[in-house]
Amino acid sequence: MTTVNLNRRRFLQYMASGTLISAMPQFAFSRDYKLNLTPNRAFQADVEIALTAHKTEVPILLGANTRVLKYSARLLRGPANTIKTLPSYLGPILHFEQGQKVRIFFYNQIAAPCITHWHGMHVPQIMDGHPMYAIDHGEQYVYEFEVNNPAGTNWYHPHTHEVTAQQVYRGLAGLITISDAIERKLALPDGEYDIPLIIQDRTFTADNQLHYALTMQQRMQGFLGNTILANGQHNPTIPVKTRAYRLRILNGSNARIYKLGWNDGSPLTAIGTDGGLLEAPQDFPYIMLSPGERVEIWADFSGRELGSELALKTLPYHGFSMNMGGRGMRGSQDRMNDGSRQGKEATIIRFAIQEQVSDSPQLPHILSPIQRFTEKDISNPNNTVPIAIGMHRMTFNLNNRTFNMLDYANLEKIPVNTLQRIRITNTTPSMRGGMRGRRGGGMMNMMAQPHPIHLHGQQFQILSRTPNYGDSTYAEVKDGFINHGWKDTVLVMPGEEVEIIKPFMDYTGRFLYHCHNLEHEDMGMMRNFFVE
Ligand code: C2O
Ligand code: CU
Repeated sequence: MTTVNLNRRRFLQYMASGTLISAMPQFAFSRDYKLNLTPNRAFQADVEIALTAHKTEVPILLGANTRVLKYSARLLRGPANTIKTLPSYLGPILHFEQGQKVRIFFYNQIAAPCITHWHGMHVPQIMDGHPMYAIDHGEQYVYEFEVNNPAGTNWYHPHTHEVTAQQVYRGLAGLITISDAIERKLALPDGEYDIPLIIQDRTFTADNQLHYALTMQQRMQGFLGNTILANGQHNPTIPVKTRAYRLRILNGSNARIYKLGWNDGSPLTAIGTDGGLLEAPQDFPYIMLSPGERVEIWADFSGRELGSELALKTLPYHGFSMNMGGRGMRGSQDRMNDGSRQGKEATIIRFAIQEQVSDSPQLPHILSPIQRFTEKDISNPNNTVPIAIGMHRMTFNLNNRTFNMLDYANLEKIPVNTLQRIRITNTTPSMRGGMRGRRGGGMMNMMAQPHPIHLHGQQFQILSRTPNYGDSTYAEVKDGFINHGWKDTVLVMPGEEVEIIKPFMDYTGRFLYHCHNLEHEDMGMMRNFFVE
C-alpha cells in the first residue's frame, strides 16, 4: 500500500470536496510501540467475538438501498445472548456481564485504516482503541479485557485518526449493554421490554445515498443531517403493551444535540446515565442528550388507551451561538433552509399502544448505590486539571493545543491511582466580544458553541456547573442536564465552566479526552492524558 502522511489541511480539503475516505490516500504513522495483534494465551476468555467492519448496503429510506459501513459480529464462545443483531446499518448489541473476560477479534474489512473504541468502558490503554492502534484493511486487532463497569449502556465506534466522523457517519457504531448483580435484583424490564434507541441524523442524496461534505460552517459547528434516524430507520413506530419498558437511548450523532421529550408533555423518568444506573429514578421535563451521551428512561405505557400513540421528540430550542446578537449563524442557517438546523423540532420514534396487559413491573424507588465524590476526596486539592476550550485559526483546541497522536513531550500527566478535579471551561476568547453585546458576525457566533467533552478511562462525577447567565439559550436547556450519576461525556455550554471529579485508577498510559462533536474531534479538539 502506498502511504503518505495526510496532514490536517489536506485532509480538510478532501473532506470539503466530498471525497470518500476510500478514495483518499492512505495515511500512515511509524509505529514504535506494540499493538495487540494476536491473542494472549494466558487470558482465559469467557466470551469470544469476531467483529468485522465492512462495506455493505441496507434499506433505510423507501427505494434504493443505501451504501454503508457496518459492524457485524459472530459469537465464537460464550452465552447466546452476547450478540443481538439490529436492523439497518447498526452494529449488533454486545451484551456483557460485569466480571466477564472478553476477547474480541476486530477485523478491518473497510478500505481505510480503522480501530474500535469501547466508549464508556474502563479498559487498559492498549485495549481502548486509541487512534495510534489503527490497523489497515485486512488486518486484525485483538482486544482482551475484563468487564469492570457496572450495569449500564455503553457503545462502540471507530476512533481512527481524523476520520472518526466519517466512519461513524457511514454506519460504524453499536451498543454495549452490561448487567451486574445489583441490576438483576431490581428486575427491570428485560427481553422485548428492554428497547435500544440509537439516535442519529443523516442527509441523503436523491438516490438514497449518505451525503457527507462539509462547508466551512459545517466544519465549525459539526455536520448536522436533515433526517433523524432511530435505530437506523426513519420515523419508526414500535408496537408496545400497556406496561413499563426500559429505553436505552444513545446519541450516536456526529454533532446534533437533542432536547428529548414526550409529545404529550409528560415528564421523562431517567433511571440511568452514561455510566450506569442512577441512585434513584428522577423526572425531567426534557433531557438534553449530546453526542456520545446515553440516558436510560423508564417508559410506562400502562393506563394508556389501546390504539393511541406516544412519540419521543426532539423539542425545538434556539440553536446555540445564534443568540449572540447580529446576523449570525441562525440567519444563515435559516437561509440554508434544508432543515438541518441545530435545535430543530422533529419526531424521533413513535410507540403504538397495541396490547392490553394487566401486569407491569413497578418502578423501583432505589436503583444502584453510587459512592459520591466530594472535594475532600480529591488527591491533590491544590491542583485542578484544566481543560480549556479554545480556538486558533478557525480550529477548536484544548489547552491551546490540537491533537498530536505521538506527542511525547507535551502530554498532560496524571499520577495513577489518584482522584482529580478537572475544570472544563468553554470560553473561546472571541466569544466574549459577542457576550458584551457587540454585534457579532457569523464567524463570531460560530465560536460560541456547546461542546460535549468526553474523557476516556473511568467514569466521572459532576461537581459543579457555573453557567454563563448572559447566554439566553441556557434557560431553554438547563433543566435537561443530568448532573449526577456516572458520566463520561458532559455538554459544556458556551461560556460555561464545569467541574468534575474523575478517578484515574489501575491503568497507566495514554487516555484520550476530546470533544465528541466528531467534526471537532477530527479537526484536533482532542488531547491525551498520560497516566503514570
Ligand atoms: Cu466515543 Cu473517544 O469516544
Ligand atoms: Cu466541540
